[in-house]
Amino acid sequence: MRKLYVAMVGLPARGKSTLARRIRQGLLAEGIRAQIFNNGDMRRALVGAESTEPDFYNPENSAGREIREQICLRNMARARAWLAEQGEVAILDATNASRARRILIEQTLTDHPVLFVECVNEDPLLLNACIRRKTTLPEYASYSEADALDSFMKRIGYYESIYSPLQDEKFWLCVDSTANRILDERPCEGSPYYPAIREIVVSVWVHSLYLARHGQTEFNVQGRIGGDPPLTALGRSQAEALARHMRDRRIDWVFTSTRLRSHETAAPLLVERPGAHAMALKEFDEIWAGDCEGMLYSEIRRSMPDVTAGRNADKYGYAYPNGESYAILRERVQRGLRRALFLAGDAPLLIVGHQAINRVLLSLFLRQRSEDVPYIYIPQNQYYHISLTPHRKVFERVPYERTGRD
Ligand code: F6P
Repeated sequence: MRKLYVAMVGLPARGKSTLARRIRQGLLAEGIRAQIFNNGDMRRALVGAESTEPDFYNPENSAGREIREQICLRNMARARAWLAEQGEVAILDATNASRARRILIEQTLTDHPVLFVECVNEDPLLLNACIRRKTTLPEYASYSEADALDSFMKRIGYYESIYSPLQDEKFWLCVDSTANRILDERPCEGSPYYPAIREIVVSVWVHSLYLARHGQTEFNVQGRIGGDPPLTALGRSQAEALARHMRDRRIDWVFTSTRLRSHETAAPLLVERPGAHAMALKEFDEIWAGDCEGMLYSEIRRSMPDVTAGRNADKYGYAYPNGESYAILRERVQRGLRRALFLAGDAPLLIVGHQAINRVLLSLFLRQRSEDVPYIYIPQNQYYHISLTPHRKVFERVPYERTGRD
C-alpha cells in the first residue's frame, strides 16, 4: 500500500500545528501509524535564540535561509526513513509558505505522494489572539510583551513576502482552520489515507468543554428577562461551588459573555487559575429580548399577549419585537463556539453562558430537533461536560452544588 507525506502550509499562527496533531491523532485512532516532523522544534533545538530574531526569517538573509532549508531537508530525511520502516503517514509541520519550498519538497520526496494541507485563518479576533499567545511562548521569555509582539509581527511580514497559496502542487487541501471547512482541494486520488484526513479536517474536535450557566441573579428570582443584573448571594455561592468543584480539573481557557453575571460566575474560578486565559465573547451574550428586555414574564403575558402567544406557538422561530429568536441566535453562538474551540485548541475550556445560549450551544452537539431546543434543561447548579474526539465521546451533566434554583 502506498504511504503518504502530509506537508502543512500556512503563515505563522494559522492553526497548522493544532491541525497536524489532530490529523495524527485521528489517523492513530483508525489504526494508521502517523508521526509529526516539526521544523520549528528542530530549529529551536539546533539554533536557539538567534532564530527568534526576525532577521533570521528575512528572505534576503542567506545564512538564515540556508539554515532553514537544512532543517527542512533533515526533517524530510527523517520522515522518509520513518516511512521506509514502520510509518504510514508522515506529517511535515512547517510553514512551507513559498512555492520554491514546496517544489523542493515535491522534488525530494518522490517515493510516496505528498499531500499539502494549507491552513487559512482570516478571523481578525482569532488571528490577533493567536499572535499574542505565540509571544508568551518560552522562545520569547527574555522579551518584553511589546518587543515580542513587534518581533513576531516582523517574522510574519517576512513570511508574507514569500507566501503563495497552493495551486500548482499535485495534491492539496485548503482548509479554513477556524471553521473545520474545506475551501478548495485537489484530491489525492487512490490514496486510502486521503478520505480519512479529509474527514478529520472537517470534524469538530472538542477535547474537553465544560458548559456552565451563570449563577442566580435577582432577575432570575423575579422571573425578569435579559438585562445586566449581578449575582445574588446564592448566585455567588454557586460560583464559589463551581470553582471548588473544578479545583482539580485542568481548565486553560475560560470564555464568558460580556454580561456581569457571567463574569461574576467565572471570577472565583479564575482567581485560582492565574495562568488561564479569560476572554469575553459577545457571541455568548444572552438572547436579546428587544422591546421586552428587563420585563417580567408575567408583564409580557399581560401587556404583550402576542409575544407570549408567538413564543408558545413557535418558541424556536419567534423573534422578540426588535429582538432575537433562538433561530437567529444560532449563527452567532456557532461563531462564538468556533472561536472558543479554535483558541483553546487541544486544551480544556469552560464557557459560562446563559440559559438560551447554553441551549443553542448544546443543540450544536446534540443535533436536536429545533422545536425542542428552547426547552433543554439548563440548571444553575450543574454543568455539561462534552468531549468529542475519535478516542472519546463524552456527554454528561454534572451537579456541582446541591442547593439552588434550577
Ligand atoms: O430567565 C433568564 C433568561 O436567561 C432570560 O434572560 C432569557 O430571556 C431567558 O432566560 C431565555 O429562556 P426562555 O427562552 O425560556 O425564556
